[in-house]
Amino acid sequence: MSIVEKVNLTTGTGWGSGSCVGNTGSVPRLGIPELCLQDGPNGVRYTDFVTNFPSGIAAASTFNKGLVYLRGKAIGKEHKQKGVHMALAPVLGPIGLKAAGGRNWESFGADPYLQGILGAATIEGIQDEGVLAIARSFVGNEQEHFRQVGEWEDNGWDRLEKSISSNIGDRAMHEIYMWPFADAIRAGVGGIMCSLNQVNNTYACENSYLLNYLLKEELGFQGFVVSDWGAQHSGVYSALAGLDMTVPGEIFDDWLSGKSFWGPLLTRSVYNNTLPQQRLDDMVTRILAPFFAIDTLKLPSDEDTPNFSSWTYHTYGQQYPYQHYGPIIQQNYHQNARTKFSDDIALNVAREAIVLLKNDGHNLPIDKDDGIRKILIAGSGAGLDARGYNCKDQRCYEGPLTSGWGSAAVNNPFVISPYEAIAKRAREREMLVEYSNDNWDFDSLDELSDLVDLAIVIVTADSGEGFIEVDDNYGDRQNFSLWNNGDEIINHVASRCSKTIVVVNSVGPVNMEKFIELENVVGVVYAGPLGQYVGQAIAEVLFGEVNPSGKLPFTIARKKSHYVPIVDSLKDSNDPQDNFDRDIYLDYRFFDKHNIKPRFEFGYGLSYTKFQLSDLKIVEINSPTEYLPYPEEYLPIYRTIEDDICDPEDALFPHDEFDPVPGFIYPYLYNENVQTLPDDDRFDYPLGYSETNTNSPPLSGGFGGNQALWEVLFSVKAKVKNIGKYKGGFASQLYIEFPSTFVSSPPKVLRGIDKVFIKKGDTATIEFNILHRDLTIWDTRSQQWIIQTGTYKIFVGSSSRRVELCGEIDIGA
Ligand code: NOJ
Repeated sequence: MSIVEKVNLTTGTGWGSGSCVGNTGSVPRLGIPELCLQDGPNGVRYTDFVTNFPSGIAAASTFNKGLVYLRGKAIGKEHKQKGVHMALAPVLGPIGLKAAGGRNWESFGADPYLQGILGAATIEGIQDEGVLAIARSFVGNEQEHFRQVGEWEDNGWDRLEKSISSNIGDRAMHEIYMWPFADAIRAGVGGIMCSLNQVNNTYACENSYLLNYLLKEELGFQGFVVSDWGAQHSGVYSALAGLDMTVPGEIFDDWLSGKSFWGPLLTRSVYNNTLPQQRLDDMVTRILAPFFAIDTLKLPSDEDTPNFSSWTYHTYGQQYPYQHYGPIIQQNYHQNARTKFSDDIALNVAREAIVLLKNDGHNLPIDKDDGIRKILIAGSGAGLDARGYNCKDQRCYEGPLTSGWGSAAVNNPFVISPYEAIAKRAREREMLVEYSNDNWDFDSLDELSDLVDLAIVIVTADSGEGFIEVDDNYGDRQNFSLWNNGDEIINHVASRCSKTIVVVNSVGPVNMEKFIELENVVGVVYAGPLGQYVGQAIAEVLFGEVNPSGKLPFTIARKKSHYVPIVDSLKDSNDPQDNFDRDIYLDYRFFDKHNIKPRFEFGYGLSYTKFQLSDLKIVEINSPTEYLPYPEEYLPIYRTIEDDICDPEDALFPHDEFDPVPGFIYPYLYNENVQTLPDDDRFDYPLGYSETNTNSPPLSGGFGGNQALWEVLFSVKAKVKNIGKYKGGFASQLYIEFPSTFVSSPPKVLRGIDKVFIKKGDTATIEFNILHRDLTIWDTRSQQWIIQTGTYKIFVGSSSRRVELCGEIDIGA
């Protein structure tokens, strides 16, 4: 490839300059089309005839790896059908440090192990369908406030000069924030997106330590790093720091200007010797490598292009609608990407995601034989929003939540509302159904509540991405209250109806203290954003067609002060700092360490049946070693690509071949006036940047780092018997308590999940593998993963606080 061909693959062509939210340039000579990058994690964004899958947080609450793999596969299949080459999925950060963080619903819950295992399953699913997965966002994007200069104009926030800096300590970086990305890399993820925020006061997308060292050296990542939209803040510097691709292409907020940090300037920097050509070769090799290295991926041909446009839903439109340029062409082919497979998976995930939190008196499942003849369905989550269920980026919030809002939102092909699905089942059972969907009209609600045998109140709490403000929530939630008067509605209904069931349909934990202990609130169910089948899944659980088997992927606290607050004021600075003082004590680790009683702990969730655990067996498979063995030496790198800089004239815009589209980003030089910089005038390379291969054993050595980290050291098995009245799923969890030989660790960390479905009276075996990495701590002094000597307690149970079985592993010196 020529320099301009290579540069073209590294730089997006500009916002709106292609079918997808991100489009690289093409290499027509080799038949490589513009590569299409499209959101996202819950289905294909900005198009029709697709499935709106249950969100990441809902997928997490299934605690079911196999099902999450199938969800990834279904999401991959639909991207493929639409002609997407690279899916901007899965989301592995935010990790949920802040319960009110606006985008927590996109990822897999407040635990690195859960994020890692479900992230890897999703990547395998997507890539098995021939679509390259891009895991994101690396790293520390734990809140929306101040994520991006230019987005914050209200409340005096326009003073913001730099994105917020997430200041993360070394141990937390390794044990919490990087952990799921190691799993992603091991699963063969093609791309990783660097985040909008700064990390320790350097922008994530130009943080050489983060990208060159941690990601590419230590974790052995051989794919490419792509910027979040507008997360690039420098040209040569970001290239040297490890960024391989920039999208959408232009400088943030200068959309349609055609001005880019890269594109023509990257070409110039190679010609004038500022950027070693070897780095450009590396960038392009990394972008193309996944298509050759991963069996299921294939480099797209120029016939393999998207069949939709992100910029219009009409069939025909101008080729470059934002630029008002070009001929009228067919923009959308309305290709049906939906299949029975994706429908089934969307519904099954929604069903398994539902968490039963309270069932006093066993009023659930609803049974006609219990004398229930007249029911009330109430709450703004019961019926659809009057504005519909496809407001742009899902910013409407008055119906049930199919997702949060922002770039991870997907158009619903339809939505089954809780009212529709519950009323149908009630009618089939000859019950009378009353309905109220007005959360401000207490008089009629009171009247109705007085007259029914059972009431179901569906309440919501929403959040989303920072570029959209909804009801004064700037992405992040401003508090943990239920939206649309939810608490008042529950209290009105429960003060009159002795069997009140509350369904909390929310993006994360809410304050339940105002209703959870009310005697008449006999049942409480948590449902995350469940996609298009939200109502059906809820109704199936309430009526016992499905036995709930979901578990909370976060802790629900009793007090707001137990959560990490959002930094939502600039105070005197224009450069906000967010010190991650919780260190490794994320979510339940913090509650456990300080002996704080949560309302509902991480991993909690009831069933209509009962399970009994027994027969814990721990068997050593390989003996643990304190230090990691040295990996095999890397093979020497033989450079096969020669520098091929010739005449700058070769890189000039070929005006005789075509006219430039206004605002489109091309790789060509503006003029041939390229000066080669003298050697002593060279650009300062970022600390640690080396043009030669660096190897950092014992950490590196393969995808995800030293491969010995994935060696199985112990196998753990136990028996689970269904001793209740219904068949059901049991999401078993394995936690480890570490010794404190060198450093102290959280009282318990999740290190295994295994979900089994068991018929009434039957017994199943649950199995876990404890890997080398599962027993390690990150030793900041020696900069290594080490296994401490001492006693490790192994807990197997049904939540982070209900551990029915306990065993020990002794590791001697
Ligand atoms: C910005 C968001 O942060 C990112 O997650 C998304 O993929 C891009 N916008 C593209 O829509």
